[in-house]
Amino acid sequence: MKPSFLNPLQSLRPAPVLLPLLSRAQMSSSSRIPSPPDNGVVLGCGAVSVDFLATVAAFPKPDDKIRSVNLKVEGGGNTGNALTCAARLGLKPRVISKVADDPQGRSMLEELEADGVDTSFMVVGKEGNSPFTYVIVDNQTKTRTCIHTPGNPPLVPEELTHANLSSALDGANLVYFDGRLWETALVVAQETWTNAPSTASALISMLLRLPNLKFVIVTLGEKGCIMLERSTNEASGQEEVVVESLLESLKTSMDASSLLPICISSKSSLRISANGIGAVSGRLLLGKAEVIPPSELVDTTGAGDAFIGAVLYAICAGMSPEKMLPFASQVAAAGCRALGARSGLPKRTNPRLAPFWM
Ligand SMILES: Nc1ncnc2c1ncn2[C@@H]1O[C@H](COP(=O)(O)OP(=O)(O)O)[C@@H](O)[C@H]1O
Ligand SMILES: [Mg+2]
Repeated sequence: MKPSFLNPLQSLRPAPVLLPLLSRAQMSSSSRIPSPPDNGVVLGCGAVSVDFLATVAAFPKPDDKIRSVNLKVEGGGNTGNALTCAARLGLKPRVISKVADDPQGRSMLEELEADGVDTSFMVVGKEGNSPFTYVIVDNQTKTRTCIHTPGNPPLVPEELTHANLSSALDGANLVYFDGRLWETALVVAQETWTNAPSTASALISMLLRLPNLKFVIVTLGEKGCIMLERSTNEASGQEEVVVESLLESLKTSMDASSLLPICISSKSSLRISANGIGAVSGRLLLGKAEVIPPSELVDTTGAGDAFIGAVLYAICAGMSPEKMLPFASQVAAAGCRALGARSGLPKRTNPRLAPFWM
């Protein structure tokens, strides 16, 4: 089966209704959680790393000597984190990346396997070093500063045999790239983002320049996320709106008092334009992040990766975009409640996710 590339059309199918016949005794809270989707094989290609996380009371100045208030060593890397998140939610991820045959490399593989990520397609280099990252978590500003050392020697395509690649793709429903593939990253970054005057207009620019893209999402930390979804029918005589004013009107209609993640959507099949860039047919969705009490907000490392892992799940499970954005925000917010990119990633049995299984 050919995998699709983050195809949101799948997410527009009606959500599967999973109503197993259960006796009263079986209807415990955990048995109300539906089974994970059976098309849950996702392949991720990109970064895995070991994170050395040190929490500090305040970020140091050059030449300072300070002490950490907390320390943790755990797996990291965009793809490693997103796939760990997807596995905890019930998908069956496979990872393509490279580590060296050193203690860090071995611990990364063990950690991924323990979380249910299939590492049999990983390349293990005989020499060199595995990728690792120093992460300084500043308790004062709640920021995470990362200093990354790439793995060496880097993964080259020749290290993936054709047979290995086709078995990695066999039965995969989705393929995830974390943007480490510089050719793709360059197209998106230089060609589109830099020319657009606002984030919202950059989304229009991206859908225009990459015509096979079904949707694009930008996450904005505690400010939530914005999604632009292309409509499948380009009916003529559509209402035309400028993207910035559409976004403003969505912000005005949003219930600002909600502490839990919510989402609102514009009408579908609008003609949405960006000045000097062009217009696309589609709809705009605005997601509100969870308001995490300051005492519970520990570390936002990997929040974006957690969000993506949940989006991978939502696509496989056929969730609507209206449900997917709050779901992904809720998963990411759970992750922000523990130090490191992975410790706080929720399992499907986590009570915070219960509303999404209804
Ligand atoms: N401080 C925060 N409070 C609540 N939610 C957050 C916070 N930081 C991140 N999130 C959630 O995680 C998502 C991704 O976070 P973001 O910071 O944009 O990613 P990145 O990890 O790439 O910096 C956000 O859209 C939001 O839902
Ligand atoms: Mg962030």
